[in-house]
Amino acid sequence: MNTATSYLGLRLAHPFIAGASPLGHRLDTVRVVEDAGCAAIVLHSLFEEQLTAAHDGRIRHMDPADAAFAATLARFPEGEEYPLGPDAYAEHVRRAKQAVRVPVIGSLNGTAPESWLKFARIIEQAGADALELNLYQVVTDARSPAASVEAELAGIVREVKRILKIPIAVKVGPYFTAFAHMARQFEEAGADALVLFNRFYQADIDIASMRTTAHVELSTSSELLLRLHWLAILFGRVRPALAVTGGVNTPEDGVKALLAGADVVQLVSALLRHGAAHVQTMRRGLEEWMDENDFDTVDDLRGEASLERALDPASVERAGYIRTLQSWKAS
Ligand SMILES: Cc1cc2nc3c(=O)[nH]c(=O)nc-3n(C[C@H](O)[C@H](O)[C@H](O)COP(=O)(O)O)c2cc1C
Repeated sequence: MNTATSYLGLRLAHPFIAGASPLGHRLDTVRVVEDAGCAAIVLHSLFEEQLTAAHDGRIRHMDPADAAFAATLARFPEGEEYPLGPDAYAEHVRRAKQAVRVPVIGSLNGTAPESWLKFARIIEQAGADALELNLYQVVTDARSPAASVEAELAGIVREVKRILKIPIAVKVGPYFTAFAHMARQFEEAGADALVLFNRFYQADIDIASMRTTAHVELSTSSELLLRLHWLAILFGRVRPALAVTGGVNTPEDGVKALLAGADVVQLVSALLRHGAAHVQTMRRGLEEWMDENDFDTVDDLRGEASLERALDPASVERAGYIRTLQSWKAS
């Protein structure tokens, strides 16, 4: 049985890789991820805000000397609160490459089309096999129309592609009006893969202090459904490879992601919750399922539950929506 897959020009023994997380913070945890059997590791992100703060003290053009920005700037972590500063991150990539044989994917995280992007080249020079570019943002400026936001995001990808030789994956959230068109724009900008999707980290409100509170909850399988949806729509319709991140926790989730069209399956919550060795459960579960369902290769099963052959996916979506509503039965 052949579980091998290709992603970002890399041949991987199987589709399960460690997504960006604290497992990338230290060399010993990177080794744990390899020893556990993950086919590749995405390191945690280096953030635009870290790079610009280290470069000229500003974050998103806000000057710390200007009192008007003090309250906003205070919301960002201090430099030493990040696991690694920019130079240490590059050195970490170099050492991680020496420490493990599995591919090491660096991660840059930001949204402004500016000079911090040049750091991508430093990550490449440090030996990263590929770069994941996380474009997490919430557009709040009422003067920014979707088309200009999208053009700017595609422009960032184009710029990073121009300065790098290694492949790049683009990680984004799902909240676009026309995500299929956005995916095509990333493709035209040179993205080698799309990573679907960032989770939308929504702060809660503590009613005692009347302040917002932020903490990370690990995901559950219910979050996968949105990803399955878009994998199924994009499979066979865009050139970039498709990676899934968000909600893959059980072997069944992994099989579903591949059936919907994923080339690779990123794991974070599952590894943090059960330990890195959970990747073996995922791999064994996939092999057993392939055996039971007479698939010899992952390539054969990929996209089997996608909308590749649907003439009009939008109508399929509409039909599914109406049918779902009709399926409710009063008890
Ligand atoms: C503690 C923690 C730290 C994370 N750090 C990063 C990061 O540095 N960069 C990034 O792109 N995503 C980061 N993520 C998001 C994960 O890569 C992943 O997209 C998300 O957790 C959804 O996948 P999951 O359901 O497998 O957890 C982090 C997630 C967690 C839980």
